[in-house]
Amino acid sequence: MEKKIRRIGVLTSGGDSPGMNAAIRAVVRTSISCGIDCVGIRRGWQGLINSDFIPLNGENVRHIQSRGGTILYTARSEEFMTEKGREKAVSTCKMLGLDGIVAIGGDGTFRGALELSRLGIPVMGIPATIDNDIGCTNYTIGFDTACNTAIECIDKLRDTMQSHERCSVVEVMGRNAGFLALYVGIAVGATSVLVPERELDFQNDVIVRIQNSRLAGITHFMVVVAEGASSAITIGEMIRDSIGMDPRVTVLGHIQRGGSPSGRDRETATRMGYCSVRAFAEGRENNIIGTQEGGIVEIPIEEALAMKKHLQMDRYHILEAMSSSGAGK
Ligand code: F6P
Repeated sequence: MEKKIRRIGVLTSGGDSPGMNAAIRAVVRTSISCGIDCVGIRRGWQGLINSDFIPLNGENVRHIQSRGGTILYTARSEEFMTEKGREKAVSTCKMLGLDGIVAIGGDGTFRGALELSRLGIPVMGIPATIDNDIGCTNYTIGFDTACNTAIECIDKLRDTMQSHERCSVVEVMGRNAGFLALYVGIAVGATSVLVPERELDFQNDVIVRIQNSRLAGITHFMVVVAEGASSAITIGEMIRDSIGMDPRVTVLGHIQRGGSPSGRDRETATRMGYCSVRAFAEGRENNIIGTQEGGIVEIPIEEALAMKKHLQMDRYHILEAMSSSGAGK
C-alpha cells in the first residue's frame, strides 16, 4: 500500500536564481491542495543539519512569485558533505516528521539530495540555476531572467561604446557552461562570444572578427566572455596588446542573479513546484523534475546527475552569420 504523505520540507540550496520563490510558493500551495503540511527549511542543507525551519502556509507565500532571491535563504554546506552532517540532517527530518524533501537548486543540491535519499529520506529535485547547465532538463529556473538582465545591461553599454567608438569586453556568469553567454551574445548581436565549450582561438575568434567588423564600417565592438572561458580583464588586455585598442571591461557579476523573475521563470517554476508535490502525493520519489520539449518529465536522481547537456553549437554559427564580421567576410 502507498505510504500516505503527511508532511514535507522544502529548501533552496546553492546559488540563488530568480524564480525560486515562485517554486516555493507552488510547492506550498500544491501541498495545501493535497492535504500535505509544508515546512520551509532555511539555508539549504545546512538548515536541515541545524533544524532551521519555518512553517509555511498560504499566507506567508502570498505573491512571492514576483520576488527575486529566495525567502528561505540559501547556502552551500560543507558539513552536509560529511557523513556526520547528513546523519544530523536525517535526525531533523525524523524530528519534524518529514515524509519527503523538495530540494530546489543545481547539480550540487541534487548530489546532496541523492545522499539523503540513500539514507531513506525521499526527495524530489527542482532545477534552478541561472547557468542552465543541468543535463536532465532543457531549462532551469532563472536562466531567462538572468539573460534578460545581462541583455539590458549590454544594451546600455552599447550606447556608450557606440558614442565613443570603443570596444567593450563583458564577462557573464555561467560557471563552466556557455549557455548564458551564447544566448545573450546572439540577443545583443555581439561581435564575438567566447564560451568554455569551444577552445579559444583568440586571433580568429576575437581579432579577426573585430577587424572584419571594422572593414564593414563598424566602429564599436562587443565581446562577450563566459566566465568559464576566460576573464574579461584578460581578454581586454590581450586585445590591447594585439591591436592597440583601449577596451572597456565590465564584469556583470551577481547582478545577473537578482531581479523580479520573468514570466517564463515564474510559469516554469510554478509548474515544476506543482509536479514535485504531485509526484510525492502519487507515490513517486527520488526524481528530478525537468522540462523536455516543453513538457514536464521526471528522471531518477542518479540517472539525472549522469546526463550531460551540450551547448548547441549551431547557435554559434547563427551568431557568426548575424554579426557584421561574418557579413564582411
Ligand atoms: O551557479 C550560479 C552561479 O551564479 C555561477 O554562474 C557563478 O559562477 C557562481 O554561481 C557564483 O557563485 P557565488 O554566489 O558563490 O559567488
